[in-house]
Amino acid sequence: MLQEWIASALVPHVPWTKQQMVDLLEIPPQPQMGDVAFPCFTLAKTFKKSPADIAKELAAQFDGRDGIQAEAAGPYVNFRLDRKRYEQQIMDELTVSDQRPNLGKGEKVLIDMSSPNIAKPMGIGHLRSTMIGAALYNMYKLAGYDVASINHLGDWGTQFGKQIAAYKRWGNDEAIAANPIKESLKLYVQFHEEAPHDETLEPEARDWFRKLESGDEEAYRLWKYFVDVSLKEFQRMYDRLGVSFDYTLGESFYNDKMDAVVDQLRDQHLLEESEGALVVRLDEEGMPPCLIIKTDGTTIYPTRDLATALYRHDVLKGDKLLYVVGGEQRLHFQQVFAVLRRMGADWVDQCEHVPFGLMRFEGKKMSTRRGKIVYLEEVLDEAVARALQIIEEKNSSLEHKEEVAEAVGIGAIIFGDLKNNRLNEVDFSLEEALNFDGETGPYLQYTYARTQSVLSKGRAAGEPESGTAGPDQAVNGQLGDSGWELLKLLTRFPDQLKRGIQNNEPSVMARYALDVAQAFNHFYNKERIVTEDSSLREARLKLTELTGASLARTMHLLGLKTPQRM
Ligand code: ARG
Repeated sequence: MLQEWIASALVPHVPWTKQQMVDLLEIPPQPQMGDVAFPCFTLAKTFKKSPADIAKELAAQFDGRDGIQAEAAGPYVNFRLDRKRYEQQIMDELTVSDQRPNLGKGEKVLIDMSSPNIAKPMGIGHLRSTMIGAALYNMYKLAGYDVASINHLGDWGTQFGKQIAAYKRWGNDEAIAANPIKESLKLYVQFHEEAPHDETLEPEARDWFRKLESGDEEAYRLWKYFVDVSLKEFQRMYDRLGVSFDYTLGESFYNDKMDAVVDQLRDQHLLEESEGALVVRLDEEGMPPCLIIKTDGTTIYPTRDLATALYRHDVLKGDKLLYVVGGEQRLHFQQVFAVLRRMGADWVDQCEHVPFGLMRFEGKKMSTRRGKIVYLEEVLDEAVARALQIIEEKNSSLEHKEEVAEAVGIGAIIFGDLKNNRLNEVDFSLEEALNFDGETGPYLQYTYARTQSVLSKGRAAGEPESGTAGPDQAVNGQLGDSGWELLKLLTRFPDQLKRGIQNNEPSVMARYALDVAQAFNHFYNKERIVTEDSSLREARLKLTELTGASLARTMHLLGLKTPQRM
């Protein structure tokens, strides 16, 4: 908004369009340097002058007439807006604007997210994928994209042969019914423990998977059983995290679409035999071959991802396909995309792996094979229990304590993840994530609740009458320095959303929410909001209201709830 006004004012003096100017303008690192800065380097060639001389000449064009002051500072022109004139105008514009940059123009984005494996507990990687994916989903949606989320369940593959073989040997229906995922995992672990000592196990498992792939009735029934019980458990997690999917299409969905892929690869002479298996060689791309059909004739993970990508593009009509999957699968996606390109799918440029780093919970990693894992549901429960404890200490008379604790505990986990650049490894500490004074979800929720309590106090102070402005108003505006900085920050939401989308990076929005919360708390500590002077009070309450709306908007993008009281 500010950049646009300055850009309009500058356009008559420079050889560029308004939009080009908006992109060139910067926000100065220090507030005392002004509100918007224009670096003159790019004009030096055109004007055949030094950037500093250009800055001086440009600055001289502004004498404060339109409420814009300019000052040359080396190669920069620093612009300052007349607060008295612009405060109200900015607040009015923020009130009517929905703050949605229309970037998407209906482009269809499909987001592969969460995608846990059946018959195993959801891993921490899947939790990250779920939260990052859900945030991206909301961000794209707000920016005008036609977006759909897809849960690509790992519900097919040789591990189901192992699962069924183990079940046939040691399975106990009652135990499974009571504790489906833990019991399934136990069987899977037992299989891996005993396989080294029992040569018949692995062949048995392969046999079951082959049966499953060829539609054997018993194999299918057992497989379906494991899928159903797992899904029910996953759903509980999704409900608590507030995440839903437009499509839940597991790997098994592509079973009948695999032959076509293999045929096409064969027709295009891309398949080669290698030690009894069929592969696509990717020597030219500098990658190891992509395995398509294993020696036992079954398909494999990359084959299914080829069929999946084709389906998403051809049938679901995705223009852009995102895969929110851990960084350890980087090579897998590079190979899949390379094979697609070989197949002539030029749209593969619109496929993007959105990787993220490893997360540990209080130092613990997870390994499904050995059964040493962190159960996510237990982590969520623990976070909520601790949140409740903190609330009891801070505000024991609060209404709906349990509900607030759920929002705060889950929010702490979501934000503790999303505030990090997604590629960073995260060592998650629950205590840190729940610190109400730290860079945390609870801190944002607390600040939001503060805006709401200030507003209700303000309303109780009565309707504003036409009052007189305070003595320092001419210089500092009605909001004071801290309020002016906060207000400018509020105008930056659309830029931040754009940047977050360009980088597929929810942490941009997370940092922005923290900046807004910090700026509000600074304002709250510096200025009396509910003051005697009704004109000042009205302006400051308006700023508080806009801040609350901005915080809520950003927090909802990230998947955080916003209790009114805490
Ligand atoms: N189920 C896989 C895993 O847990 C993740 C699937 C990601 N999506 C995909 N299209 N490959 O490793």
